Amino acid sequence: PPPADQPTGTTPPRDFPMRRACPFSAPQEYAALRAEEPVARVTLPTGRPAWAVTRYDDVRALLSDPRISADIRRPNFPALGVGEQEAGARLRPFIRTDPPEHTRYRRMLLPEFTVRKVRAMRPTVQDLVDGILRDMLAGPQPVDFVASYANAVSTSVICGLLGIPRENLEFFRDVTRVSGSRTSTAEEVAEALNGLFTLLSDLIAQRREDPGEDLLSKLVTEHLLTGDLTMHELLSTVGITINAGRETTTSMIALSTLLLLRRSDLMEQLRAEPSLMPSAVEELLRALSVADSIPLRIAAEEIELSGRTIPADDGIIGLLAGANHDPDRFPDPETVDFHREDNPHLAFGHGMHQCIGQQLARLEMEIALQTLIRGVPTLRLAVPYEEIVFKHDSATFGVEKMPVAW
Ligand code: HEM
Repeated sequence: PPPADQPTGTTPPRDFPMRRACPFSAPQEYAALRAEEPVARVTLPTGRPAWAVTRYDDVRALLSDPRISADIRRPNFPALGVGEQEAGARLRPFIRTDPPEHTRYRRMLLPEFTVRKVRAMRPTVQDLVDGILRDMLAGPQPVDFVASYANAVSTSVICGLLGIPRENLEFFRDVTRVSGSRTSTAEEVAEALNGLFTLLSDLIAQRREDPGEDLLSKLVTEHLLTGDLTMHELLSTVGITINAGRETTTSMIALSTLLLLRRSDLMEQLRAEPSLMPSAVEELLRALSVADSIPLRIAAEEIELSGRTIPADDGIIGLLAGANHDPDRFPDPETVDFHREDNPHLAFGHGMHQCIGQQLARLEMEIALQTLIRGVPTLRLAVPYEEIVFKHDSATFGVEKMPVAW
């Protein structure tokens, strides 16, 4: 029988995270959870208990509920790895803070990511992508698509915006790989972040002397030198912007390309009708939901969701892939439909932490996919599909390595 403090019908806690059987969809268990136990007890890799929320309406309600906190310093915060928990508590990236602190950081960055600002970046992003594709095509085959294209695009764009030299594409990738991995120890995460901060500190010192037009110069002159931000806060803010902006976008570009290579019908639709791209991007964001378990929260007060009472101080995860595959919100959710009209997906989260870089991410995906479809009609996998390695142990789901040829 269930423990006395649990309602009847409650199953024992399941292990979380759950693994994707199909890389292009949510873990299969989410469908059963949505139907039978939409707010379910889970056990995290750290051994901590938490609640997993899988229905669209519940995830939306949760992420805009003022009674939840994203403060990683709270005991029971449901970080998925020991390294993430310790580094987060020390560094306090603003994605894991609450107002008023969160509001202060967010206000500094928001003006840089408006629809208008991002629209103006289109020619620059197109130039960067054209150059990356040209370099890839000039190099030997096969080549790892993740490193040579997906990561190159996302890292170059974010580095270009911040004004960080992009010669170290692999360096940034390694930092995120270690800091976003559930299996990294606290020491490994600290070492990776220290490497990043050393590089950033040198650039900040240089910007103090000789500011330019880039975002880093702006943060230095308008916020560091005025005393609004300490050096530690500036490093943490720039660090989270790089980390948040890179891995997610890399994953979306690589996984979307892999899906298009597997589904020639979808590839053909985009080739025949390029104006379909914006709605295709939204559908790919919904279907692939790579940032599934990024929204980690903790109940600051008792909360009721789908008839279940979550006590104060319990960890909660709003599963975005769960929400985005909820058949009550998205008819036929397992079908990737580039003509889907009503698509209010939660791939960028919801509420006060909703992704700051979402317009930029959309632009990058659109340009990266369009340029590839137009420029390399013969693109193909250079190994059998079964040999593609996926990232199951990372905060963001993605493709580890994807050898391609053309
Ligand atoms: C927050 C997803 C690209 C910067 C988030 C959140 C999600 C997300 C789900 C909310 C996390 C939460 O509620 O705890 C994605 C996806 C992307 C993407 C799927 C690519 C397809 C980007 C880019 C940037 C960026 C390109 C920056 C240039 C951020 C930042 C936050 C955030 C700074 C924290 C916002 C806050 O806490 O207020 N992202 N993101 N993201 N994202 Fe993104």
